[in-house]
Amino acid sequence: MTRRKALKLTSLTTAACAIALKPNPAIAQAAAASPSGPFKVPPLPYSYDALEPHIDAKTMEIHHDKHHAAYVTNLNKAIADAPDLANKPIETILKDLNSVPEKVRTAVRNQGGGHYNHTLFWQMMKKDGGEPSGDLAKALDKSFGSFSGFKEKLTEAATKVFGSGWAWLVLDGSDLKIQSTPNQDSPISQGTKPLLGLDVWEHAYYLKYQNRRPDYIKAWFNVINWDFVADRYRNH
Ligand SMILES: [Fe+2]
Repeated sequence: MTRRKALKLTSLTTAACAIALKPNPAIAQAAAASPSGPFKVPPLPYSYDALEPHIDAKTMEIHHDKHHAAYVTNLNKAIADAPDLANKPIETILKDLNSVPEKVRTAVRNQGGGHYNHTLFWQMMKKDGGEPSGDLAKALDKSFGSFSGFKEKLTEAATKVFGSGWAWLVLDGSDLKIQSTPNQDSPISQGTKPLLGLDVWEHAYYLKYQNRRPDYIKAWFNVINWDFVADRYRNH
């Protein structure tokens, strides 16, 4: 390379750096709107379309990338006013909401609950879910008469949630129970351990099922990750 060419290259490189380093007002604004913080949105453990045709790819994309992300953004905003919470796992915080400073308690309950519930929800689903087996299947039979009996009870609870909320299979001590929670309240704030949760907020199904929540519930039973549920049951 001649000296003249080298100088030209250097000057082009410098110009490129100058452009790259110049603050971009649009990016700065976006960063301000989505403050970083201790809580992060975990990646989906499968592709957006993995649960088709039961749950459509667009719903999964918006649900995960927009709704879950908004809970995390707003949780981080709330935590900025209560920095002592920043190093605690969200599960620990939700188990003892009374110890959360009052000024941020409602925000942590709603946004933190949304973050925790959805983090579980993604893992509770997978392609070709099948049916439970082993000790969990026996426990479901014992508590609900049969697997069909369990499905009926969870379906009933999910159908009856008024407005937005969740229906759950939980462990209460060593007993399996069906529970429902309004909004983003989480069973762990009420002393039970969620094993399986069904999100019946309209954002979970409206694009594909519109007002037909019962059709969404029926379809969702095809994509339950029973291995994940069984792990949570085994480790109680
Ligand atoms: Fe949701």
